[in-house]
Amino acid sequence: MPVTIGVPAERTPGERRLALVPEVASRLIKLGAKIRIETGAGNGAQIPDADFTDCEIVADAQAAVTGADVVLTVQPPEPELLEHMKAGAVVVGFMQPHAKHALVRAMVEKKITSFSMELVPRISRAQSMDALSSQGAVAGYKAALIAANTLDKFMPMLTTAAGTIRPAQVLVIGAGVAGLQAIATAKRLGAIVEAYDVRSATREQVQSLGAKFVDTGVSAEAAGGYARELTDEEKAKQKEALDARIAVMDAVITTAAVPGRPAPKIISREAVERMKTGAVIVDIAAETGGNCELTKAGETVRHNGVSIVGPVNIPSTLATHASAMYARNLLNFLQPAIKDEQLAIDWEDEVFAGAVLTHDGEIRHEPTAKAIEGASS
Ligand code: NAI
Repeated sequence: MPVTIGVPAERTPGERRLALVPEVASRLIKLGAKIRIETGAGNGAQIPDADFTDCEIVADAQAAVTGADVVLTVQPPEPELLEHMKAGAVVVGFMQPHAKHALVRAMVEKKITSFSMELVPRISRAQSMDALSSQGAVAGYKAALIAANTLDKFMPMLTTAAGTIRPAQVLVIGAGVAGLQAIATAKRLGAIVEAYDVRSATREQVQSLGAKFVDTGVSAEAAGGYARELTDEEKAKQKEALDARIAVMDAVITTAAVPGRPAPKIISREAVERMKTGAVIVDIAAETGGNCELTKAGETVRHNGVSIVGPVNIPSTLATHASAMYARNLLNFLQPAIKDEQLAIDWEDEVFAGAVLTHDGEIRHEPTAKAIEGASS
């Protein structure tokens, strides 16, 4: 029997992405997979059922997952969907293991093997599977567009018969995957861009995009090339240098994150009050608490003439390309596990071993196991 892949429609409110696109479906079929997709699943990403040629279009989520060897999702599946899945089935998606404890318990009980795309190790070989990066790039691009759209000003310099318009000044805080894409996009729109990150390795990346690196004298690199939390002294030093730059900006795009921690608070109320009237903050860390003290997730707050935008699930707003990139990440992840039309996971492979959340009735991701045991004891 060839490996069967089931794709239910996403049910999380506001989620328009899908875990599969026609191009990736064809590649999986070439590897010997059979694919079942819930009717209408691609609507949000502008993919009609008819584009999924050679896939079976089924009436509901239950039919998509019943008997499937592999289920692909964007958001964590509803625990009720597991009722219809067979023991030993594999689910791959963003599982949000830190938050979805009931789901993790249900997957343990049903002996579901789950892989969480957030847990794919960030090693060179796994870059093509790195869904945090692909979706981060989408978020950074869109953040710059949101800033441009919210501003009552042009981004580029314009020389017109009605006079010369000065270019907008944009500051990007956090120069990881999303931040770098925000810088590149704001530059393409013609803004004068500055950027800051606590990791000194980003200085060169920022400069190579034609932006100026803001030096605060604070460097905070941790294991794996990630940022660590700052000490109080470092925070004060950072604040002094950054606040002076924030005050003169037309737009500030914040993307700072520390893995497993709430977003660092970098822009205080006072800093907002020092900004120019009409200035804009786009805080893409809104979902994890925000980089600005005044951010409200899913809302635009007006404070003292400044708009603070707190967008949620930005990748979903670019659903067609976000889905295409995510589906390719899933293909690159799954491909090594499909051999002779069968599913054969190599548990010695650090990518599978790193990304596994539950397997064979156990939680395999230690921090999640500890969090769940801690909560129930
Ligand atoms: P992220 O989303 O966790 O954080 C965004 C940025 O915020 C990071 O650059 C971080 O340094 C910065 N940040 C944290 N606290 C800050 C503060 N107080 N002030 C200013 N900035 C602050 O990061 P992302 O974009 O997911 O990845 C960043 C790291 O992961 C980098 O080292 C990158 O090279 C590495 N990476 C490696 C990959 C691979 O090898 N496969 C793929 C993608 C990223």
